[in-house]
Amino acid sequence: METPEGTLQNILEQESLKWVFVGGKGGVGKTTCSSILSMLLASVRPSVLIISTDPAHNLSDAFQQRFTKIPSLVNGFTNLFAMEVDPKVENDDITNDEGLDSIVSELSNAIPGVDEAMSFAEMLKLVQTMDYSVIVFDTAPTGHTLRLLQFPAALEKGLAKFMSLKNRFGGLLSQASRLLGFGDDFSEDAVLGRLEGMRDVIQQVNKQFKDPDLTTFVCVCIPEFLSLYETERLVQELAKFEIDSHNIIINQVLFEDEAVESKLLKARMKMQQKYIDQFYMLYDDFNITKLPLLPEEVTGVEALRRFSKHFTTPYKPALTKGSVEELQQRVAELRLQLNAAENELDKLKRGKHRA
Ligand SMILES: Nc1ncnc2c1ncn2[C@@H]1O[C@H](COP(=O)(O)OP(=O)(O)O)[C@@H](O)[C@H]1O
Ligand SMILES: [Mg+2]
Repeated sequence: METPEGTLQNILEQESLKWVFVGGKGGVGKTTCSSILSMLLASVRPSVLIISTDPAHNLSDAFQQRFTKIPSLVNGFTNLFAMEVDPKVENDDITNDEGLDSIVSELSNAIPGVDEAMSFAEMLKLVQTMDYSVIVFDTAPTGHTLRLLQFPAALEKGLAKFMSLKNRFGGLLSQASRLLGFGDDFSEDAVLGRLEGMRDVIQQVNKQFKDPDLTTFVCVCIPEFLSLYETERLVQELAKFEIDSHNIIINQVLFEDEAVESKLLKARMKMQQKYIDQFYMLYDDFNITKLPLLPEEVTGVEALRRFSKHFTTPYKPALTKGSVEELQQRVAELRLQLNAAENELDKLKRGKHRA
């Protein structure tokens, strides 16, 4: 029984998609996969933005280019933009009057996460006005991302708390703030209006996140027990939040057919296969894409581009050891190496002559 090999072609073909989340545990390949997805989308969409919300930013590493919280063009592209945002921004980044500032920190003491919700909402509001055809999120490890998706509820609570404070203390709040020198800018109505505006944005975006035509979540994992376990938790949480997910990327796969002699590698392959089988069993209604483990890191646009072929065509294992094709390839590789060495030698000789 052979399961048909999946690819991520379905994401490229779903033209209605506006938000693509890429998530999973740390180190599995979220940044690599989201970067490649954004590059592939850039070839079929008018404009693409990739946003990293992982405090351990590494879009800069993947693309080998510095990014900031303002979208900037990725080198070598005309329609691919990248930005790195820190969900834990300082309050003064999102508010510009002291009254609101203090209220926000009050609120975030009362309900942890409200300040993050505000900056997330602020970011989404901004991004929405920018008119990108599709936005890819390189998310922080699991728990954090899911928390972002619960924010409307948190804000709702924040507002309720604020209202009760207001009712309880009446004008005292604004009197106190005037005494403290915040001035008249700090009116409860202004603060409340601001909070409600924020909640509206989050609610609006969350509605979009729950629409499978607009939003999907790509789960990245590796063929190991912990990752299988985490993926199951993630898939269940996403279902709870009514967020579509129908793609799983199994990264760092060692392929059986490779000409491998190492006992260790063979044992690892066997272990991987066990978990890969379980992935296929558990997620038979998912699109499962397997990506090979490379001997080197996947950094820089060129490496990402080379690796991107595994996103659109199922991985073709290396040639069988001892076959004519394999020997031909080895001869070709050796010839290249020989050429390079000869060139180097030439250069050295010429250098000596000149000296
Ligand atoms: N299939 C792979 N083969 C080899 N190296 C990989 C592969 N996928 C990712 N890497 C490398 O592993 C490291 C972690 O990947 P990254 O995408 O940054 O993970 P995450 O964002 O989930 O923490 C990076 O250095 C990346 O280049
Ligand atoms: Mg990352």
